[in-house]
Amino acid sequence: MNELQLELTNSLRKYCQDKIEPFMEEDDASGKFRPEIFKGLGEYGVTGVPLPEEFGGANLSYTDFAYVLREIAKYSAPYAVTLSVSTMVQNIINEFGNQDQKEKYLPPLTSGQEIGAFCLSESHAGSDAASLKMTAKKTQGGYILNGSKMWITSAGVASTYFVTARTGGEGAKGISAFIVQAGTKGFSIGKKEKKMGFRTSPTCEILFENCFIPEENLLGQEGEGFKYAMSGLDRGRISIGAIACGLAQRSLDESVKYSLERKQFQQEIFNFQGLQFMMADMATEVSASWLMVLEAARLFDAKNSDSKLASMAKLKSTDVAMKVTTDAVQIFGGAGYTSEYPVERYMRDAKVMQIFEGTNQIQRVVIARALKKEHQ
Ligand code: CAA
Repeated sequence: MNELQLELTNSLRKYCQDKIEPFMEEDDASGKFRPEIFKGLGEYGVTGVPLPEEFGGANLSYTDFAYVLREIAKYSAPYAVTLSVSTMVQNIINEFGNQDQKEKYLPPLTSGQEIGAFCLSESHAGSDAASLKMTAKKTQGGYILNGSKMWITSAGVASTYFVTARTGGEGAKGISAFIVQAGTKGFSIGKKEKKMGFRTSPTCEILFENCFIPEENLLGQEGEGFKYAMSGLDRGRISIGAIACGLAQRSLDESVKYSLERKQFQQEIFNFQGLQFMMADMATEVSASWLMVLEAARLFDAKNSDSKLASMAKLKSTDVAMKVTTDAVQIFGGAGYTSEYPVERYMRDAKVMQIFEGTNQIQRVVIARALKKEHQ
């Protein structure tokens, strides 16, 4: 960790401890999202970390951003994901948008005044994203969007939506991408999902009913939208990896602390080698995941991005987070299964990380395809 990363994470830790952590148990129970928490992250300058200064970003590296996300995730994985998805949308606009789009949409997102959401999945098109059915029909001066998107993170609290829709025939090549703002006529938020975990992060369906979008909201070229989404996910998956590492690290820290306090058979349970070995394995796996995340981020920073390594980092870190949070509950025993301690929430939060931004089975598909390509 360099000096800047140390300074950034130290000051962020204080914000997370004072302004995020105290609400997490209560908000998890009620499913409440607090916009002021996100705006507070903006005031800390972390809502546009890898974006250029010209558009209000901090112009830092993706590696720096991984440190930021890992730190926030130690206190709230859901708020870290709100941030990572919003940043993914910013990255896509920055990479594929034109100057006008960047000037218009990026500053409110990089400042944290607004939140970005990524709309790819549909009810019948989750893993098979290229089979999406939502349509964007060309009309005078723009497009008319019809259809619906499912499982959209930050739906309802976001204001800028990256939306994929079909402008052409079947398959990936028929898909284009648009920027849609909340409040556009014909755009509405549908059912809010009741989830096992990640309850402070709203997930909803989004409906588009004859929703007119002006031509200038088309992102890049017609027919290229699927590629923009995939390239956004390459970076997004590294972010999810970093968040999984933060969640796992916190679960490990809580386990060590508890096992040094809790006494059974007249001694701290930490003394039992069975638990020591568990925690040693947890620590080793968390470190291995973090090194993969850092390497994937480093390649991005070196403009040598590698989808395979991004998928590996997401796969490894989120599987590790699931295992480590489950082991943490085991170390806490009966108490760990209750909401008296946060480890049961960490375990529920970990599960979805093996699912979103591409299930871990899809990550294996990406990795296996790359292996085949390398061989050929
Ligand atoms: N970058 C740029 N272009 C890419 C790319 C990438 N990483 N991956 C694929 N493409 C391009 C391909 O080159 C191809 O273009 P050409 O034909 O011109 O070469 C085109 O996209 C189609 O690619 P594939 O043939 O590989 O497409 P596929 O239909 O076989 O799908 C897949 C590939 C990997 C399975 C993909 O569908 C996928 O990733 N599915 C999972 C979807 C997903 O991750 N959803 C996440 C939802 S968002 C979310 O969860 C965020 C949140 O809320 C937290």
